[in-house]
Amino acid sequence: MQLDNHQDTSIDGLKERVLELAKRRGFLWPSYEIYGGVAGLWDYGPFGAMLKHRVESAWRDIFVVGESALPIETPTIGVEELFLASGHLSNFVDLIVECVNCHTALRADHVVTEYLKSRGIAADLCDPGIAGACVPSSEKTQQLIDSHGITCPDCGGPLGKVHDFNLMFTTHIGPGTQRKGYLRPETAQGIFADFPRLLRFHRDRLPFGVAQIGKSYRNEISPRQGVIRLREFTQAEAEVFVDPREKNHHPRFDEVANVEINILSKDFVGTASVKSACERNIIAHEYLAYFIARCQEFFIRVGVRESRLRFRQHLPDEMAHYAVDCWDAEGLTQHGWIELAGIADRTDYDLRQHERQSGLQMAVFVPYEAPKEVERIVVRPNMGYLGPKYKGKAKQVAAFLSGISNPEGAIVFDGQVVDPEGYAIETVRESISGDFVTPHVIEPSFGIDRSIYTILEHAYDEDTIDGERRVVLRLSPHIAPVEVAVFPLVKALNEKALEVFRLLRRAGLLVEYDDSGTIGRRYRRQDEIGTPFAVTIDHETIENSTVTVRDRDTTKQVRSSIESLADVLREMLVHGFDKKSF
Ligand code: GLY
Repeated sequence: MQLDNHQDTSIDGLKERVLELAKRRGFLWPSYEIYGGVAGLWDYGPFGAMLKHRVESAWRDIFVVGESALPIETPTIGVEELFLASGHLSNFVDLIVECVNCHTALRADHVVTEYLKSRGIAADLCDPGIAGACVPSSEKTQQLIDSHGITCPDCGGPLGKVHDFNLMFTTHIGPGTQRKGYLRPETAQGIFADFPRLLRFHRDRLPFGVAQIGKSYRNEISPRQGVIRLREFTQAEAEVFVDPREKNHHPRFDEVANVEINILSKDFVGTASVKSACERNIIAHEYLAYFIARCQEFFIRVGVRESRLRFRQHLPDEMAHYAVDCWDAEGLTQHGWIELAGIADRTDYDLRQHERQSGLQMAVFVPYEAPKEVERIVVRPNMGYLGPKYKGKAKQVAAFLSGISNPEGAIVFDGQVVDPEGYAIETVRESISGDFVTPHVIEPSFGIDRSIYTILEHAYDEDTIDGERRVVLRLSPHIAPVEVAVFPLVKALNEKALEVFRLLRRAGLLVEYDDSGTIGRRYRRQDEIGTPFAVTIDHETIENSTVTVRDRDTTKQVRSSIESLADVLREMLVHGFDKKSF
């Protein structure tokens, strides 16, 4: 699949048109609009909420049901220990600078980049020596503000000092200031905190996946990209716990091996199958490649255009503090390429951190297929020598010596070399049945809201039908908020039309009934919200119990009997209007 590599410019002002449609037709509304709204907070209106529900269902089908993953739900409020362990308290920061005059808080690196860009100066906010993409450094950002005399973009006032701003919202748990709480910046940490129970639930076996869909929060400094950068958003995350020695052997890799993906990495740009990307070391191992392929399957199912979807490998300096390899699934929109999902190898970072913080063991005993005979060098204390030499401490020295395995060089106890006469070195053969392993985590993590914006933008189209310009959302039937609209041609047919509407609703279809305005206007209203099919009850319906079924994309119509209508529609929803044989 060739990448478009350009934003869709066939429709002028596409971004504005999509947003206007989304607001007008009840997909997305600015939150608290009656009080002036808040940047970074958006509501889903009725069609948006249903669309979101269906996108999440598609995700569940692939990443929970399809993977036999364990679904869980953990609180959105996390305790301080959780984020001390995860590193979010120290690392989850952006650079902030405040205007001394108007007190607006600004993303310092964005202010500098935009200022330099507007003057045609190459922006370099990284410390010297950092290769590739960079995490902007506060020193370099401050230096650039000072040397270029950069001022507040809003009022022209002087800027204060650049400093770190932690993106987690804080709260208190219980009255007063008893216990500090944080709104979670990712759903993942709730899963890691439950790992000991999850492991027991899965009968102490690896690998297994755990999935969670829920709200996360990031107190963005100045979110300016509409619905793209939100302060409260929905994540769908799976944490897959795997024996690190098995990362290059995904048990179901064959199912996805030939899936072709668009790749942008430091070593390769182009299209390749996930199998060849693994073999050529473009993707580090099969587990990452497997979930990249599943990620593409999900996006295509929900209507992200394959030609506007790519997988971009993070450069080392760009990676989150917990990851060793990370790929972003990016969708091309009017906002440029935006991150829709990340597929990361988080190694054993999180489990080890929580092990340290909680004092609980997070390792898994992985048995061998058959016990192994191994040789071990042990130390046998010689009490005949140790007793007179160490007297009251002799037992302690003996216990210390017995605990040593495979000694190297002189043995030191309490800062003193133990005389070799005090022990004997022996080689013993032992049977061991497995190893303790701290699992590594492979994490496909999806931003549901950004995906929905991308779906809307990729679905948005305008064409001309019977000489009239129409707006049509070419939504995938998997996620359209309404599957079928039912119309009576004239009011006199309302009763029959309502009968058909109830029949389809009973059959489990998402149906909307509309009897207001001309039939043409009713089609347009459904086209705008992406309803794949419309059923019209006309005079012939009374004569022979048939109705017309109209296809949103082609506007072609066929007749179907009422009796088989639900089956016909179900088949069309799966296979498309033309693929139905009747
Ligand atoms: N869990 C990955 C992320 O929140 O970006």
